[in-house]
Amino acid sequence: MIPVCTPFLTGKELQYVTDCFKTNWISSQGKYISEFEEKFSVYCNVKFGVATTNGTTALHLALAALGIKKGDEVIVPSFTMISTVFAICYVGAKPVLVDAELDTGNIDVSLIEKKITKKTKAILPVHIYGHPCDMDPIRQIAKKYNLYVVEDAAEAHGAFYKGKIIGSLSDVACFSFYANKIITCGEGGMVLTSNKKIAEKLKLLKNLSFIKRRFIHHEIGFNYRMTNIQAAIGLAQLENIDKFVNLRRKHAFLYNNLLNDIDWINTPVEKSYAKNVYWMYGITLKGKMKNKKKAFVSYLKDKGVETRDFFIGMHRQPVFKKMGLFRGEKYPTTDILAATGLYLPSGSGLKEEQIKSVVKIIKSF
Ligand SMILES: Cc1ncc(COP(=O)(O)O)c(C=O)c1O
Repeated sequence: MIPVCTPFLTGKELQYVTDCFKTNWISSQGKYISEFEEKFSVYCNVKFGVATTNGTTALHLALAALGIKKGDEVIVPSFTMISTVFAICYVGAKPVLVDAELDTGNIDVSLIEKKITKKTKAILPVHIYGHPCDMDPIRQIAKKYNLYVVEDAAEAHGAFYKGKIIGSLSDVACFSFYANKIITCGEGGMVLTSNKKIAEKLKLLKNLSFIKRRFIHHEIGFNYRMTNIQAAIGLAQLENIDKFVNLRRKHAFLYNNLLNDIDWINTPVEKSYAKNVYWMYGITLKGKMKNKKKAFVSYLKDKGVETRDFFIGMHRQPVFKKMGLFRGEKYPTTDILAATGLYLPSGSGLKEEQIKSVVKIIKSF
């Protein structure tokens, strides 16, 4: 089976992890955490990095640190991973959905403004599958209505928007280092910000709201501390991040070339403002094949090619239906993406021969 994605541990991961064991620093203190935080924030051109247990807790922590709470609304795309919307629910705020644009899957910026109310506190764009959102209009709307921008950059390490690296274009940006991400800690996350006050709040809340005088707590905090072992893996991965990004892009261009002559597949785009990192190489089926995704996926599986369906819209999630959210709301582009989209094997460790073989199998369908 050619897998969708596997971790690519080709650097000093084992050396650094072994060091954690040898020095006994296996918990949430130790040099790798601060080094990973510092180097990843420098890489993203941001002043502060606060490591967390995963990308979902990074999002929760970010919203909590911004003081977003019950009674507030947060604008979020309908086409995303559930974590983005769960994080809004964790702080008790209301997620307000905006449909996607068809070619990138990112939030359709032209639909944001009409969803803003007096309760809106933040816009939470998600850089879907590694393609940056159109950040300038998002930032302009945020400025006009005095809203925070929180980037969900879980899928877009190393991507650029108009020459600026993703993570540096918002008040707070959240990353995931799950095993399939461009760099991984196994599990892990990070919140980035250049605002010192927000950074202090993130650090406080992440650590059970401990202050200098231990065992006095003034507010509810969380234990979202990354371990030194996770950070050791992350740091070793970070040393190779540019290589991974280049590999992802090289693989995508090869796929693009080889799939070019198939008239029933849309290949992923790269808008003029973007450097796409192709975290996942996502395609959509069109024309006469639009309704054949199930048969296509099952054919590929039989031939040894693993795929993953695109996200299912947030308005379709039973959990939110039960909560009475998004009733009667329509997000047609999200539904099209969910019905016709899937991603092909995309990991950094993929071999050219494997890509050629995947395309050959696709053509034989
Ligand atoms: C867009 C998006 N947001 C948030 C997350 C959550 O990250 P994690 O799995 O590390 O909790 C993910 C990844 O899984 C994601 O793809």
